[in-house]
Amino acid sequence: MPRRIAILPDTVADQIAAGEVVERPASAVKELAENALDAGASRVRIELEQGGKTLIEVSDDGCGMGREDAVLALDRHATSKIRSAADLVGVATFGFRGEALPAIASVSRMRVTTSEGEGEGTEIEVNGGRVERVDTVARQRGTTVTVRSLFFNTPARRKFLRSASSEARASWDAVATLALAHPEAGFELRMDGRIRLAVPPGQEPVARLEAVWGAEIARTLVPVEYAAGSFRISGFIQRPGDAAPTGRRAQLFINGRPFRDNFLIRAAEAGYRSAIHPGDRPSLFLEIVTAPEDVDVNVHPAKLEVRFRDRIGAERVTEEAVRHALGRLDAAAVMRSGGAALGASGPGWEASEKRPAPDAGPMLFAPAEAEPAESPRALEAAEGFPGLVAQVFDTYLVYEGPDGIVFVDQHSAHERVIYEAVMRRFADGGLPAQRLLLPLTLELTDEEMDAVESHRDALERIGFEVAPFGGRTVALHAVPVPHPRFDAGRCFKEMVADLARGRFGGWANRLERFAATYACRAAVKGGDPLDERERRELLTRLLACSLPPHDVHGRSTIVQLPREELERRFGRR
Ligand SMILES: Nc1ncnc2c1ncn2[C@@H]1O[C@H](COP(=O)(O)OP(=O)(O)OP(=O)(O)O)[C@@H](O)[C@H]1O
Ligand SMILES: [Mg+2]
Repeated sequence: MPRRIAILPDTVADQIAAGEVVERPASAVKELAENALDAGASRVRIELEQGGKTLIEVSDDGCGMGREDAVLALDRHATSKIRSAADLVGVATFGFRGEALPAIASVSRMRVTTSEGEGEGTEIEVNGGRVERVDTVARQRGTTVTVRSLFFNTPARRKFLRSASSEARASWDAVATLALAHPEAGFELRMDGRIRLAVPPGQEPVARLEAVWGAEIARTLVPVEYAAGSFRISGFIQRPGDAAPTGRRAQLFINGRPFRDNFLIRAAEAGYRSAIHPGDRPSLFLEIVTAPEDVDVNVHPAKLEVRFRDRIGAERVTEEAVRHALGRLDAAAVMRSGGAALGASGPGWEASEKRPAPDAGPMLFAPAEAEPAESPRALEAAEGFPGLVAQVFDTYLVYEGPDGIVFVDQHSAHERVIYEAVMRRFADGGLPAQRLLLPLTLELTDEEMDAVESHRDALERIGFEVAPFGGRTVALHAVPVPHPRFDAGRCFKEMVADLARGRFGGWANRLERFAATYACRAAVKGGDPLDERERRELLTRLLACSLPPHDVHGRSTIVQLPREELERRFGRR
């Protein structure tokens, strides 16, 4: 019997590997730029023609290679980055498999020019994986890899390439991602002769983010800094009110390595619960730091995904980190004429962290049995807004904060307060109600009658005791009293109409949806005058919430006018 099994020649093996590693020009750009960063480059220059289909050139000023190493680097499994399988645990470089260069070389015409310094270098010419020429040339420290005619010898792959502009976009994304991961390195990306991205070395992460994502988005971000268990999470996330259903940018890093993970993105989005319109997708930039042995980076051919040892923990901490960042007062919207709002924080503003939420009691402005504003906890929170609290246009509360002037929308703020109080009270029974001597009777539509029926339990728990009164009429025997101007009949009708119409329909959780509907209808309205005590009490309660700066529709409850902005306007700085 003739032998049927044969070992494939290296060039064929490389082409097969290339199928996994080099899917399109952007993957070659990513691999080459990662090599440059692994080589300690402080500047990486990338040049593309026709979206990388005809030319990809990546130059760096990194450590370069000697002649022997340069030739060896083009062999399969030739790497300087690990020596044994044990080194895979906690590998800190982007590369470790020793397959990117040979894989790209096997499906292109490649030239590598490299030098460790001293003016002399090596130039290697490779054609479809075969080394054709090795010369000594003059060159400064660093490496340039030029890739022409990608996939010239694999027509099937070439056929799957998209338009030049679509390939160019993918390469831009790849470079942008690396640029975000390495703000200490400079990047220049040129496409068909035009500069498409240029960032200098040694940038602060915030400045890098602004340069890559644009000031427009950067202005809408708030900082994240959180640690729990074995994870530390830092970065920036978009203020709920600035998020939109489309056009978001999301980037995750684990120990300095960009990766994709839709479950973690979803966990981060879960942190926005009750503060964002359900269809909106916030931009996210989150870096996770954990012990290297707790993540496996060797699970994806292009290293785009990682595996967590404690995935549930990673998701939980990510959600908490987002929640925590949104609850801080520096997550509030900022009035500013230009520049990023990042870091617009100030001492004494982290109300939600330091102060436990007072048990809601009967809610804001409630009569005698309410927790008095003078209680020690309330007073503590009141320190957040010393001095006068003014009301303007019968709608906004204004006070002097530590960093500037703070404006609060009284309706949005009260909505947030009631929402959180209701959610807390759902857990332990319900809210106190006021019995009516004469029941209120209300005429409803068929749909509204259905809504009352299906929400009867929740209605009762917030204080509405509803009984049928014949036909489409119901009688309210008891009602909640969230504030003295509360019109129970009107609130009930509006709520029931909202529930029947499926408003807040995007909210997954039924109780949360119900609480948001009630909060929206029960809150004081814009145009209601509030006295000084009521203003302070509203602010006290707001600052004690878990997410003070955002209402239940994803709008701001708080807008800050920073002192420095005022000073700039008046020419004081
Ligand atoms: N720009 C560069 N500067 C200096 N050395 C480089 C450069 N590019 C590649 N090398 C050397 O060539 C080796 C092979 O590179 P290659 O990308 O094929 O493998 P790797 O980076 O080790 O692993 P991976 O396949 O996971 O990327 C590297 O380990 C490195 O020593
Ligand atoms: Mg590599």
